[in-house]
Amino acid sequence: MAAKAVKSVFFCQECGYESAKWMGQCPGCHAWNTMVEEPVRAASGGGKTARSGGASVAHRTGARALSLREIAVDEKQRFDTGIGEFNRVLGSGLVRGALTLIGGDPGIGKSTLLLQVARHMSAAGLKILYVSGEESLSQIKLRAARIGEFAEELKFFCETDLDTIIGVVEAEKPAVLIIDSIQTMASAEVSAAPGSVSQVRETTGVLLKIAKSEGISVFIVGHVTKEGTVAGPRVLEHMVDTVLYFEGDRHASYRILRAVKNRFGSTNEIGVFEMGETGLTEVENPSQFMLEGRPLDAGGSIVTCAVEGTRPILMEVQALVTRTSFGFPRRQAAGADLNRVNLLMAVLEKRVGLALADCDAYVNLAGGVRLQEPALDLGICLAVVTSFRNFAADAGLVAFGEVGLSGEVRAVSLAEQRVAEAARLGFTDCILPAAQAERIKKADGVKLHGVRSLNDALRVLGIR
Ligand code: TYD
Ligand code: MG
Repeated sequence: MAAKAVKSVFFCQECGYESAKWMGQCPGCHAWNTMVEEPVRAASGGGKTARSGGASVAHRTGARALSLREIAVDEKQRFDTGIGEFNRVLGSGLVRGALTLIGGDPGIGKSTLLLQVARHMSAAGLKILYVSGEESLSQIKLRAARIGEFAEELKFFCETDLDTIIGVVEAEKPAVLIIDSIQTMASAEVSAAPGSVSQVRETTGVLLKIAKSEGISVFIVGHVTKEGTVAGPRVLEHMVDTVLYFEGDRHASYRILRAVKNRFGSTNEIGVFEMGETGLTEVENPSQFMLEGRPLDAGGSIVTCAVEGTRPILMEVQALVTRTSFGFPRRQAAGADLNRVNLLMAVLEKRVGLALADCDAYVNLAGGVRLQEPALDLGICLAVVTSFRNFAADAGLVAFGEVGLSGEVRAVSLAEQRVAEAARLGFTDCILPAAQAERIKKADGVKLHGVRSLNDALRVLGIR
């Protein structure tokens, strides 16, 4: 059997789908034109023959399955990363030997975040090795100078060859290894280019082995392609313990760190950061941050409450409704889903009787956030109505709820937490689905206005 022959296979750069021939559309993720040819070496050892032996192999190797009672639980050691928001997303700290992937758009701040994590952890006496394949040592030093003082325990190394890196890791024996980024790393075992699916898969596999056998916590940085996934992403996502995405609008300063997979904690947590002159700072009060600079007496501005993970965050929905100067009205949405905005405008037209057909409408979630939560519906509708009528809603008002096609206001998740967040920031009135208003007992000074329909909500505002 000619098992060692070099052959080539086609991989989808998006999802890692493997095929013997080229295809225009990937059958795995349905992306177009993502298949690229990569050489692969067939695995050594002959497939089926390795499977012979059965019971005798098990006897020789001592392999045995265990019952739950026989399995000892080793409580994983966790490190404090020194950054509260980061700990929260990881699930109360970094687990020893965990392999964590941090994905995000280029330039969003992944290197900065990890450098800051490394700074805190090394200051606590842990040995950290930061391997960069993207920046030179002097570039790293310039970045570090913006952030602050660094401890001696933090070591830097610029290299892209995996074998060299492994050699340094074995010599240094760090507690935490940072690989920035996986797309620049290459193993000599694989002939494909760095960043290709087979390289990314191979290097991650080697790093996984190191993490588990040496008990080193490894962070892998992965850049996201324009479709919103790390190159060769699903290949990576199932191999690692934790997948975090660092996202945000590059032009706005806030950043959200979100766990999409976590073997050691919940995926419902998010961390909020702000990028400033001296690196990233934690935003402990995201609602206040999102509402900064809000106009207090303008029509078309409504504060609503979204839930990110399990965290309620207040934010401002803005709408601008103007008479169209063309035959065809223009509708635009930034942050909110345009289809949803169109639907809500149709509901307003039919159920509330607003003549929006010859109006342009622009809807914006302030602060550059992107959200698609149904609970924003009521806020969007009220912002459109108040802009249309040039009516400034009370500055102490919050509104949330899902709006249905009949103009009814429906229940949303975590209503009590949303009200509590509004109370915490000193809001005085809250329009919310009637069924939920009745059930909330403690509103801490917030007057609850339960509504069953959009028209009810407009009556609360006094414009119906
Ligand atoms: P970086 O961490 O290099 O992004 P990534 O590793 O995800 O590609 O972040 C780079 C951006 O952050 C860059 O545009 C400069 C900005 N930045 C600041 O605004 N303040 C700072 O203190 C630092 C270090 C970077
Ligand atoms: Mg970087």
